[in-house]
Amino acid sequence: MRRDVVNSAKALSQAWHQLESSVPSDLLDPSLCLDLHPAMHSLRQKDPVHWSPQLNGWVLTRFEDIAAILRDPRVTDASTTGRIDRMPEEERKQLRPLRDSIALWMGHTRKEDHLRFQQFLKKYFSHRTVEQLRHKTQALLDRLIDKLIQDDEIDIVSELAHPLSAGVIAEMLGTPIEDLDQLQRWSRTLNLLFRVRGFQDLLEIQQTLLEMESYLKHFLDARRVERREDLISIFLDGLENGDIASEEEIIANCILLLFAAEDTTASMMSNGMWMLLDHPDQLERLRQEPALIPNAVEEMMRFDGPSTMINRMAVENFELHGRQIEAGQMVFLVLHAGNRDPEVFPEPDQFDVGRKVMKHLAFGYGASYCLGAALARMEAHVFFETVLRRLGDLELTADGAPWVPLPPLWRRLKSLWVRIHPAHTEAQALTGTG
Ligand code: HEM
Repeated sequence: MRRDVVNSAKALSQAWHQLESSVPSDLLDPSLCLDLHPAMHSLRQKDPVHWSPQLNGWVLTRFEDIAAILRDPRVTDASTTGRIDRMPEEERKQLRPLRDSIALWMGHTRKEDHLRFQQFLKKYFSHRTVEQLRHKTQALLDRLIDKLIQDDEIDIVSELAHPLSAGVIAEMLGTPIEDLDQLQRWSRTLNLLFRVRGFQDLLEIQQTLLEMESYLKHFLDARRVERREDLISIFLDGLENGDIASEEEIIANCILLLFAAEDTTASMMSNGMWMLLDHPDQLERLRQEPALIPNAVEEMMRFDGPSTMINRMAVENFELHGRQIEAGQMVFLVLHAGNRDPEVFPEPDQFDVGRKVMKHLAFGYGASYCLGAALARMEAHVFFETVLRRLGDLELTADGAPWVPLPPLWRRLKSLWVRIHPAHTEAQALTGTG
C-alpha cells in the first residue's frame, strides 16, 4: 500500500480516536459533575447534537441550538408527564397523583392554560411588585446576620442562603416562617425532577408532593375563611372570578412556586459567593465597586447558574444538524454549556464581574422563561450587597466548598464555610460592648 495512503489512514484513525476520547462517553460519571466544562466544550465542538445512551436522549450544548429548541413547537416542556405516560401501566397507575399535579403546573400541558397562568401571575412577579418586597428581604437577611455575626465561621448555604430564599417565598405565599426547614427539604426533593431517572425516583418525589399537598391544604382552608395579603388568597380570589379553574390547580401551583423558587435562588446565592471566593480579584473588585453587583449577578448566572440543564420531549420527528430526532425522544438542554459557548461569550471560562452579559440561558428562554427571575435577582442583589457590607473580609475555611456530584451533570454545594470579619463597631454594637 502506498505510504501516503497509510499515513492518511493513520491520521484519520488518530483524529477519530481523539474525537472518541475527548467526547465524554459516560454522562452519568460523577466526576463529570465536578468538572463539567472541558467535556461540554468538547461536545459542543464535536457532537453538538449528541445521542446519550445513558440518558436515553439527545444532549444539546450550543447556545443557539438551545435557544432555538426552547422556541420550537415541535418539542414540549411537558416532558415529565410525557415520560410517565410512556411507562408500563402498573407504574403509571402508581404515579397518577404526581402526574395529575405536574400537569397543572402553570397549566403547561395546554398552551391556553399556560398563557392563562402567565397572565394571572405575572403582575405578582413583576419588577415593580418584587421591589415592594425588597425592604422585607433586607430585614430578613439582617435578622439572619444579626444572629450569627458573633461567630468566627458561618455556613453561607444553611445559615444565610436557604433561610433567606425560603423565607421570601414563604412570605409571598403566606406560610409560616417556622416551617422553613421543612420547605427546604421538600424543595430539594422536588428538584430531583430535573435529574430523574426512573420509577423509584418518581415515587420518592410523589411522596414529598403528597406531604406538601396536605400541608398547603390547611392554609387554603384557613384563607377561605379569612383572606390575607398573600398568594394563596390571591389564588382563591382567582378561583372566585374564573381565572383559576379549581382548588387542585391552586395547590399544584403553590407547590411549583415553592420548589421553583427556594432551592434555585439559594443555590444562586451560595454558588455566587463561592465564585467570588474562588476569584479573590473579582471579590475585591466588587467590594470596591458595589454598583457592579447587578452586573456581577448576571455573570454568576452565566458562569455557573443553579440550573445545569432542562428537559424537553420531541412531539414530532425533525432533523437537527443532520441528526434525526424522533417524537417521544427526550432532549436535554445543557444550560451550563450554552452559557459557556465561545460563539456568544468571548473567553467563556473567565469569570469577570465587569462583563456585559446581554443574554444568558440561566432562567430559560422563550415561552417558559422563569416567572421568578425578577424576584431571584432582587434577592441576590440584596444578599451580595449586605454580605459584602456587613461581614467584612471573607475567607474560605479549611473545609472549603464541598461539592456533591448529582449525575447526570449536576452538582450541589453541601456547605460553604467562611471565616468572617465583621466591621468592629458593628459586632460591638450588637453585643452592647465598647
Ligand atoms: C436564581 C433562581 C432561579 C433560577 C436559576 C430559575 C431557573 C428557571 C428556569 C431555567 C426555568 C425554565 C424551565 C424550563 O423552561 O423548563 C424557570 C421557570 C420557572 N421558574 Fe424559575 N428560576 C429561579 C427562581 C425562581 C423563582 C424565585 C420563582 C418563583 C417564585 C421561579 C418560578 C418559576 C416558574 C413558575 C417557572 C415556569 C414558568 C413557565 O412555565 O411559564 N423561579 N426557572
